[in-house]
Amino acid sequence: MKFGYFDDEKLEYVITRPDTPLPWINYLGCQAYFGIISNTAGGYSFYRDARLRRITRYRYNNVPHDFGGRYIYLRDDESGEFWSPSWQPTRHDLEDYTCRHGMGYTLIGSRYKRIAAHTNYFVPMDENLEIWQLTLTNHRSERASLSVFSTVEFCLWDAQDDATNFQRNFSIGQVEIEDGVIYHKTEYRERRDHFAYFACSDKVDAFDTQREALVGPYRSWDKPRAVERGRLTNSIAHGWAPIGAHQVKAELAPGETRQIIFVLGYHENSRDQKFDPPDSQIVNKRTVKPIIAKYLDSGNVDAAFQSLHRYWKGLLGILQVDTPDVHTNRMVNIWNAYQCMATFNMSRSASFYESGIGRGLGFRDSNQDLLGFVQMVPARARERILDLAATQLPTGGAYHQYQPLTKRGNNDVGSNFNDDPHWLIVGVAAYLKETGDWSILDEPVPYDNQPGSEQSLFEHLQRSFQYTLDRLGPHGLPLIGRADWNDCLNLNCFSDTPGQSFQTTTNKDGEVAESVFIAGLFVLAGRELADIAERRGLAAEAKSYLTEVAKMEDTIRQHGWDGEWFLRAYDDFGRKVGSKECSEGKIFIETQGFCGLAGVGLDDGMAAKSLESVSQYLATPHGIILQQPAYSRYYLELGEISSYPPGYKENAGIFCHNNPWVMIAETRVGNGDRAHDYYSRINPSAREPISDLHRCEPYVYAQMIAGRDAPTHGEAKNSWLTGTAAWNYYAITQWILGIRTAYDGLQIAPVIPKNWPGFKATRIFRSVTYHLTIERAGEGNHVALEVDGVPVHGDTVSPPTDGRKEVSVKGTLT
Ligand code: BGC
Ligand code: NOJ
Repeated sequence: MKFGYFDDEKLEYVITRPDTPLPWINYLGCQAYFGIISNTAGGYSFYRDARLRRITRYRYNNVPHDFGGRYIYLRDDESGEFWSPSWQPTRHDLEDYTCRHGMGYTLIGSRYKRIAAHTNYFVPMDENLEIWQLTLTNHRSERASLSVFSTVEFCLWDAQDDATNFQRNFSIGQVEIEDGVIYHKTEYRERRDHFAYFACSDKVDAFDTQREALVGPYRSWDKPRAVERGRLTNSIAHGWAPIGAHQVKAELAPGETRQIIFVLGYHENSRDQKFDPPDSQIVNKRTVKPIIAKYLDSGNVDAAFQSLHRYWKGLLGILQVDTPDVHTNRMVNIWNAYQCMATFNMSRSASFYESGIGRGLGFRDSNQDLLGFVQMVPARARERILDLAATQLPTGGAYHQYQPLTKRGNNDVGSNFNDDPHWLIVGVAAYLKETGDWSILDEPVPYDNQPGSEQSLFEHLQRSFQYTLDRLGPHGLPLIGRADWNDCLNLNCFSDTPGQSFQTTTNKDGEVAESVFIAGLFVLAGRELADIAERRGLAAEAKSYLTEVAKMEDTIRQHGWDGEWFLRAYDDFGRKVGSKECSEGKIFIETQGFCGLAGVGLDDGMAAKSLESVSQYLATPHGIILQQPAYSRYYLELGEISSYPPGYKENAGIFCHNNPWVMIAETRVGNGDRAHDYYSRINPSAREPISDLHRCEPYVYAQMIAGRDAPTHGEAKNSWLTGTAAWNYYAITQWILGIRTAYDGLQIAPVIPKNWPGFKATRIFRSVTYHLTIERAGEGNHVALEVDGVPVHGDTVSPPTDGRKEVSVKGTLT
């Protein structure tokens, strides 16, 4: 069953009923000001950092699930009836409800008693504000006397403190109102130099800034007393819960349409210009007034919306494909690329499942996100790489997370996740291949942000590699530390205390437990580093990296192979994890996918064999399960993985993130049918017809789909912020379609299904547009290329040397 449809022309998903199985959300803003918005206008906004600069309040895990947002109420002042055109919070039976989630905007519209109301919510490019552009039309044959109410609930900036420190917070809320604009200035009197504002394009008939005055005692947002009475009270918040609410009276003749714009924004003043007059306590508004005035003008708003649209058209235009599969086209051309921007911006910090206070930007996550994102905004990718590298420690290890606002490593979580450093090499390699910008390697970057400790980025990469060599275990495999990619395989944790964090508890010295996964990652990263070193003229270093890589491959063959698949790890007792010998957790996906992806076992058949085992033991119609059999009880020596009931999350859930590793591995053994089949099983667009089972949005990937051991097999969870976005984009575009960035040009190496006659694509790469046509002439994966009609040797197209900006490439597969 579906709850809407794709409108590919408009780059939108159109939701046609408000009661989706879960809130289906979108992101507003893609630079510094961000909002999350659901299909019923729920959600919140923040500036840069969802924890430290939360602008509006949201209550997670509420009843109903999604409550609190950018709510507008309409009131028929003759009948006294009021309703929400976004359905929530009043939940009236609306006519013609639609929510169009598009590229950086969400348009929610409906009709009720012949009053149509459409609100376009978006964040203009380069601004720290959001616009709610409301269009009202009276379809009645008589005049309509309406009141329009806009509402937001302000957060007192630090979202964690806001949700916990009530003894203080109920006394600090402060606002100012000037010309109908509501300024939220809590803590501005002391150390904050920022405030929020909420403005309206029309004459404001009344306002409220104290929540209680609007909502009334013992009531909620579905029945605010002041709205019911039809009169806001002009309340001024002193402490308690500051809100912003405007009331605008709208008289509409039959057939008349009217637009009202609301602007919610964030503004910073320089410290010496905080107050106006300077010796007062009044917010200096001179700096923000021109911005407010600009966006209360509908011409400017329309222009800003057009430029947002152009921005996204431009970004998506970097790669467009035309394949025989509509779901591939739609995800590659629109939604997967779009999701990659969200994962790049948010990492895993703020969604409807990530509260914005739990996690900052993850070291491994953000580096992997680059794989899917780097082609879109390379300058920002560069900045991100340098920020990440600056949280690396002198040992080569890394802070596991950092806060986006301060860019400092997060001490609460710390380091010692032994896979982390290698992802920096993988991320930098992706950046270099895309951009050819070798200068980044010479950028001086500190360790742990300590001034004076700067070394070149290249040195950081070398330390990343060395980190593992300094930490080899009894079998010569990498020691796992707290965890590797699988945060829940906590082999040194041994926690028997309820509530203790699996992520930060370490009870063992870590000298025994080893990870075969890190070994595979080491091989991949080592080869990349060798390539990079070679191109920097460091032939001896390159050679030594390759020697270490070869040694590690041998070690994997000797101690990391179980006969039919790659082992997963050795635990603190030196016992195998992910082996036939285990009673549960005999086979894991990570090493099958990653070793194959890294090229381990390609020559000796191990990779192919391990992929057969994946197909036999782990593949389901809903995707590939993380491990089997699921752990049926808690194992002290394994940690969080065995804390989940079977079939969920890391305990035999379909953890979508590593499905694309298997897809890539399948392409490396030449199996395009299987690679694309796996791709389709978790492709959200392909799963749209089973939206009632899948439950999450059909336009973006979710982190997890319940595995076959779960009673809810096929149900997705934790949508939006997942490494799945980048990895699937990378797998389908660079390995299945085979449009692969390489140091020396664009490599064309498709491994597509046998029954595809071919496909077309346009790729902008280093400022040159490549028009690709791939035709199948045989069943294999061998490609013969013609560049502008001239046959070329090999499968890589070098950038034109004569300044041409358009290149035609024809590839024939045999
Ligand atoms: C989750 C992991 C996540 C980890 C760190 C665990 O509870 O299962 O997926 O990576 O927390 O936040
Ligand atoms: C989600 C985390 O963000 C990521 O870092 C980790 O690799 C996966 N979960 C698997 O545990």
